[in-house]
Amino acid sequence: MASSLTYSLFPISFILFLPSFIYTSTGAFSEDLSDATLTKRMEKHSHLHFYFHDILGGKHPSSIRIAGKPKPGSFGDTYIIDDALTEGPNATSRVVGRAQGMYAIATQGSEVALLMVVNYAFVLGKYNGSSISVFGRNPVFHDVREMPIVGGSGLFRFARGYALAHTIWFDFKTGDAIVEYNVYVQHF
Ligand SMILES: *[C@@H]1O[C@H](CO)[C@@H](O)[C@H](O)[C@H]1NC(C)=O
Ligand SMILES: *[C@@H]1O[C@H](CO)[C@@H](O)[C@H](O)[C@H]1NC(C)=O
Repeated sequence: MASSLTYSLFPISFILFLPSFIYTSTGAFSEDLSDATLTKRMEKHSHLHFYFHDILGGKHPSSIRIAGKPKPGSFGDTYIIDDALTEGPNATSRVVGRAQGMYAIATQGSEVALLMVVNYAFVLGKYNGSSISVFGRNPVFHDVREMPIVGGSGLFRFARGYALAHTIWFDFKTGDAIVEYNVYVQHF
């Protein structure tokens, strides 16, 4: 029984894999990987926890304003960031990565919500060189903000998920902030 099953399955798998051989050997622009590769991989779920240091004041800001009205803090303000991500809340704690990208105040009403377009690039251990991309709405004065993870690279290929951001420290004078992140991500 087992051997007849093997024999009867053989032609089916041959037919399934044949198209990808043809595409590869002819150098076609696209290739269907769904049968050959993706189903063999298991989707992974990861939880990441770190602190984001957004420094606008002082001699070495990690967030700089590149556009907006003369008076900062209103609709249209746009910042480019290269913020440290650390293991603990203290700025001196171990760096796990950097948040590189931009955010802008995208609200005209009384609520301040940022448009976040930021890559979180990690440097620690097996995550070194891998990144996740956040594209979302960040109403900064809410206790917990949820932002979508829309993609990733390296270990985080095919990433999707969400980030929960919670501000643990904010300086109203400079705008400096420390934000705790819990990220839940599915990837291959
Ligand atoms: C951060 O760490 C430094 C050096 O270890 C320490 O002096 C400082 O008090 C810490 N700050 C906080 C807020 O815990
Ligand atoms: C991360 O990778 C880069 C480039 O491969 C390497 O130079 C660096 O030392 C690594 N960092 C850590 C913390 O392992």
